[in-house]
Amino acid sequence: MPANNSRKLRSQEWWSGSAYENFARRAWLRSEGFNANVFDNKPVIGICNSWSELNNCNVHLRTVAEAVKRGVWAAGGVPLEFPTISLGEMFMRPTTMLYRNLMAMDVEESIRANPIDGVVLLCGCDKTTPAQLMGAASADIPAIVVPGGPMLSGNWRDRRLGSGTDGRKLFDLFRTGRLTEEEWSEIEGGISRSAGHCTVMGTASTMTSIAEALGMTLTGCANIPAPDSRRLAIAELSGRRAVELVLEDVRPSQIMTRQAFENAMAVDMAIGGSTNAVVHLVAIAGRLGIRLELNDFDAISRRTPWIVNVKPSGEFLMEDFYYAGGLPVVMKEILDLLHGDALTVTGKTIRENVERAECYRREVIRTIAEPLHAEGGTAILYGNLAPDGAVLKQTAASPRLLQHRGRAYVFENYQQMRDEIDREDLPVDANSVLVMKNCGPKGAPGFPEWGHIPMPRALLNRGIDDMVRISDARMSGTSFGTVALHVAPESAVGGPLSAVQTGDEIELDVRARRIELRVPADEISRRLAQFRAPAPQYDRGYGRLFLEHVTQANLGCDFDFLRKIGT
Ligand code: FES
Repeated sequence: MPANNSRKLRSQEWWSGSAYENFARRAWLRSEGFNANVFDNKPVIGICNSWSELNNCNVHLRTVAEAVKRGVWAAGGVPLEFPTISLGEMFMRPTTMLYRNLMAMDVEESIRANPIDGVVLLCGCDKTTPAQLMGAASADIPAIVVPGGPMLSGNWRDRRLGSGTDGRKLFDLFRTGRLTEEEWSEIEGGISRSAGHCTVMGTASTMTSIAEALGMTLTGCANIPAPDSRRLAIAELSGRRAVELVLEDVRPSQIMTRQAFENAMAVDMAIGGSTNAVVHLVAIAGRLGIRLELNDFDAISRRTPWIVNVKPSGEFLMEDFYYAGGLPVVMKEILDLLHGDALTVTGKTIRENVERAECYRREVIRTIAEPLHAEGGTAILYGNLAPDGAVLKQTAASPRLLQHRGRAYVFENYQQMRDEIDREDLPVDANSVLVMKNCGPKGAPGFPEWGHIPMPRALLNRGIDDMVRISDARMSGTSFGTVALHVAPESAVGGPLSAVQTGDEIELDVRARRIELRVPADEISRRLAQFRAPAPQYDRGYGRLFLEHVTQANLGCDFDFLRKIGT
């Protein structure tokens, strides 16, 4: 037992006492081979593990957990590892986003129901990080995050490949006959070649970086590659620190303050982060009673330059980013735009954590004086097509399309898009605007990553590789293109997107942050008056709970009854 621990810990509510249930709880834990001194008011550290063989990105987390345990024991605590559901981005149908809130509930209730004083959160793949942060925020016992880290850079022949970003580009070559079956199979074997999350600044890398920016990890923890020995070394240190956090009684609500969320939004912009970060940050903040508006993201985006040259917006991969100095360098570079005195789980402020960071490769992490783009990666759009907002990753878009007018070609749903997108006679050209409906939180349902509507084969064959695409879906953080997403309210609840018809003119003006349907207002009203909501796709179980309680994209898609603030 640590000498300075005079406060009776939460776990003692289970262990200490002479009642039968105290005896039984002690006896059943001792069945795991512990001695009686395990109950001596030592901090019990739960290791919340999203390991799963159905989630390749997190498949190494049991090894990481062992390193955490070393640290917990060394600091005088007792580590107890427990599983939750895991969300493997590549495998789950219809989409992991349907289950993010379920995992968050699992994390929260597992923490709340068990005899633990603090928790180490092991995450990696896209939704596992926000789900754990949401659950830990609601449970609000001392917590620290240890992401699993990115996988090794992909490799094919003499080329380095970045997860979905290069995968999608090469797939376009394959589907237009410019790669052979044999070559495509070689790529399949080399693009994802170790445990760990995707190798670009997709949602996983964005959210783990955001966990660090929020102050919830040790400094420099987020970006260490999964197979790197330093991943285990920092996991051990995190275990040690978890014990200290319990003794100091530092809780997530003291770390994840409004200032911390503003820091996280700024870092998201500087790294050219995934558009999904907007939804997840709003949801995590909502668990703590902090209301983040989409306009907050836009205001911070306008003043925060994009400086991290990593795909999909840039050129390099997450390994390069780590070797260049990683997130501490970014935070030091934009320190004047951050709340430097925000407290972190290190026990120090953001400023103290990063002030000695050094950059070792300036082509990967630029200076604030020579950014890749004067503004951040994500722009928030409003207009009669998206009264409650839409998002667009301007750094991954084609500059020539950021101000654009074109005629809509409408897919009423995802299946229609899949059926038609490769038609040689699809009546679209480079100026057309593809619109896809019924792919939002309730419409799909589950808010899947269908928003990166593939380029029509007919246009690819003519050498056209980007066009304006609009939907109420999300998009993988590894994707790219001039794609407006998260249109709210979504079409399935009667948002204006439901009124768009093929042939309508649409105007996108990212500089003015506008997205407009150029149809007279009375005609839009007439069409909306005819709107009929689609039949619900679930009538029982978790799916029904989701449909009845999920909020719209601008509110983070959390369940209304889990937010600490109203809708
Ligand atoms: Fe897990 Fe990309 S599939 S992070």
